[in-house]
Amino acid sequence: MEERLQKIMAHAGIASRRKAEELIAAGRVELNGKKVNELGTKADLAKDIIRVDGKLIHAAQDKVWMVLYKPAGCVTTLSDPEGRMTIAKYIEHVPERVYPVGRLDYDVEGALLITNDGDLAHQLMHPKFGVRRTYLAKVTGHIAGEMGVKLMEKLMKGVRLEDGRAKALDAGLQAHTPKNTWIRLVVAEGRPHLVKRLMEAVGHPVLKLFRADYGGIDVQGMSPGELRELSRAEVDLLKSQAGKKADAKDVDKSVGMPARRHGTTAPAPGGRRAQKRRASGARRS
Ligand code: URA
Repeated sequence: MEERLQKIMAHAGIASRRKAEELIAAGRVELNGKKVNELGTKADLAKDIIRVDGKLIHAAQDKVWMVLYKPAGCVTTLSDPEGRMTIAKYIEHVPERVYPVGRLDYDVEGALLITNDGDLAHQLMHPKFGVRRTYLAKVTGHIAGEMGVKLMEKLMKGVRLEDGRAKALDAGLQAHTPKNTWIRLVVAEGRPHLVKRLMEAVGHPVLKLFRADYGGIDVQGMSPGELRELSRAEVDLLKSQAGKKADAKDVDKSVGMPARRHGTTAPAPGGRRAQKRRASGARRS
């Protein structure tokens, strides 16, 4: 059956549909030996030969879903022209051709979904739908009382940003340190630097940002650099949100704080537990 190339590529686990369109536009896709220039081009995987970056596409692989505790200090791509550390080293041992669902900024840590399921990834990321993401943002000063209430109201009412209005689906005070406050924000969009821009606009620029969960998939108990497979129930939870708008009443207000870690560079793959195991020469059972 003929289908659009980006759909075939997503099914085959090459990339999300949106990313597949970028690959086509960048001239990296060939159909029967000819570079594809048109986004609407259709093909049939049973008859046609499709190559991405010269590599032949095969029919669908098994779908895998994982969550990476992305550390701060690495980019959410598989290679970086500037030579910065990327998330590739945390996922390169995965046999399937997996990629991240959306992005976290270089300096942001937390839950990053990793998959080869292009269709579900597309539905989760699509701006029309809006899966909920929970962030903890550290800001300067002790925000509490009336000031805290006003700030949360403002965040939930929304502010005007240069690319349109933005608001938190839910916002609350999470914790205080002697000098700072952690604010919990739930948003249902993936616009670039959204939380940083939202907090800046309400007069509280972010010092540190942690994504506690994406669509309810969290990194509690994990350490930066650690990757784990999702349970059946977690994959079902993601599927149940695909193609729907996030709802404020689904928000989970009990959120874990980021893992404590010393140092500012991204850690070695596997997180603290794997590093300890490596250091002590212990073997995985
Ligand atoms: N908001 C940001 O500002 N940065 C991210 O990485 C994610 C959300």
